[in-house]
Amino acid sequence: MLVKVRNKDEFQDSVPFVFSHEGFEIVVLLHIKEFYAFNKDCPHAKGDLSKGRFENGSVTCLNHGLQFYLCNGNINTDELDEDITDNIDLEILNKYVLKTYTVVAINNDIYIEFP
Ligand code: FES
Repeated sequence: MLVKVRNKDEFQDSVPFVFSHEGFEIVVLLHIKEFYAFNKDCPHAKGDLSKGRFENGSVTCLNHGLQFYLCNGNINTDELDEDITDNIDLEILNKYVLKTYTVVAINNDIYIEFP
C-alpha cells in the first residue's frame, strides 16, 4: 500500500520530515539526492533520529552515537566510539537494525510503501 507523504519540492536536503501513519512516526529524508524513510525511534533505546546527524548516507543517533545506514538500517560498525565497543559486544550491536521503508516518487509526489 502506498501512502502519500508530500510533494517532492517541499523537501530540503538533509532536513528531516516526520510523517505519522497509524501510530508510527517515520522520518522521511532527502539526502544527497536520494529519498529515505525510517522509524523515528532509534532501535537501541528510542533516541529521536529526526534530531540525528545525517552525513554520507547514514544517520547518527545523538543519544549514544550509533550510526545507521539510511539504505538498509544496519549499523555502521566502522564508526563506533570506543565507549560503545568497550562496553557492548558487536554481535549484540548488530541486532539493532533501524526499520526502513521503501520510498516511491510518482510524478512530483513522494510516497512510502507499507506492507
Ligand atoms: S538510543 Fe540511539 S544510540 Fe542509544
